[in-house]
Amino acid sequence: MTSRSIVVGLGGRGLGWVESIRRRKDCSIVAYVEPHEPNVTRAVERLGIPRDLVFATLPEALKKVKADWVMDVTPPAVHHLVAYDAFNAGLHVLGEKPLSDDYSHARNVVEAGTKAGVRHMITQNYRFTSQPRTTRKLLAEGLLGQLGQCDVQFYMPWADIPGSHYVTQPFMLINDMMVHHFDMIRYVLGTDPVAVQAMTWNQSWGWHKGDAAHAIMFEFANGMHATHVSVGCALGRQTSWNGNWRIEGTGGTITWEDSGMWHTHLHRVEKPFHKQIFPVHVPPPDQAILDEFLASIRDKREPECSAKDNLRSVAMVFAAIKSAKEGRKVKLEEL
Ligand SMILES: NC(=O)c1ccc[n+]([C@@H]2O[C@H](COP(=O)([O-])OP(=O)(O)OC[C@H]3O[C@@H](n4cnc5c(N)ncnc54)[C@H](O)[C@@H]3O)[C@@H](O)[C@H]2O)c1
Repeated sequence: MTSRSIVVGLGGRGLGWVESIRRRKDCSIVAYVEPHEPNVTRAVERLGIPRDLVFATLPEALKKVKADWVMDVTPPAVHHLVAYDAFNAGLHVLGEKPLSDDYSHARNVVEAGTKAGVRHMITQNYRFTSQPRTTRKLLAEGLLGQLGQCDVQFYMPWADIPGSHYVTQPFMLINDMMVHHFDMIRYVLGTDPVAVQAMTWNQSWGWHKGDAAHAIMFEFANGMHATHVSVGCALGRQTSWNGNWRIEGTGGTITWEDSGMWHTHLHRVEKPFHKQIFPVHVPPPDQAILDEFLASIRDKREPECSAKDNLRSVAMVFAAIKSAKEGRKVKLEEL
């Protein structure tokens, strides 16, 4: 039997998930939830979604159909509410990132999912791409020896559609976009930071109400450091969405430059080299995420990127925001 899902939220990203789920043979969509009529019409016209399967709220849908899990593609401010409705009905949840735009909501919803005994996974899709997958493997194999620091730069004209929550809410670049990078830092380095110091600001020409530029430094228990520098209203040369990375260790560097990766060792005491790294093959991220989520339901185990694990990526976001607001170093345990 296929696994039955309800897609909640038919905005831009929601339509993408509808297509990704429809491509699979092991799951089906039994209902849709969308309160905003123009978005319902768009979904019906663009993807041929049956109008009678679209409901205004998740509880209404649950009265009419039987399902196994919820795909939550709503804005961050309502992720916890959608999850509570799903948990109350005993359904698993695959939720879009970020887990929440509020740290206490994030913590509470993780607890609720654990209590409900269901699978709750967050779609942290960037870490499923080939650069982080390959780099984590190489670092675990010891390619760079002892690691010292990791520097990430991101320059993009990010979220430039007027009026959206990305543009009007505070700290959205960190909360909504950088959660991908912070999650990748944890994933690639295989360790979590213990403290953060952040400064945020806006460029004079920027279009975000919240700060959309920053310099952030994370400290790790083993003495490592990671820096993250970003301009979310960059008008010039762009990085990739993953950003440019430089991981520094006794074995040289791994760099991500646009879509390429290099291993470099140039110090004169050894034979210098600058070698391209060829990435491991990975499936498209949405497919990899659905594979992992559905397998975790079948195998009754925690998925990679479970909400519980994701709380640690979200903690990096909220500790960085706290540091920027209070102008001081913040320990993650303070949250
Ligand atoms: N992983 C990625 O690469 C990626 C990319 C884009 C967006 N996202 C995430 O996906 C989520 C949605 O983003 P979006 O750009 O599609 O936003 P959007 O505003 O275009 O769509 C959200 C939809 O949810 C609906 N909605 C609001 N409250 C609801 C509720 N209580 N119940 C049901 N539906 C509700 C809205 O009417 C809207 O149609 C966000 O969390 C965002 O961060 C992730």
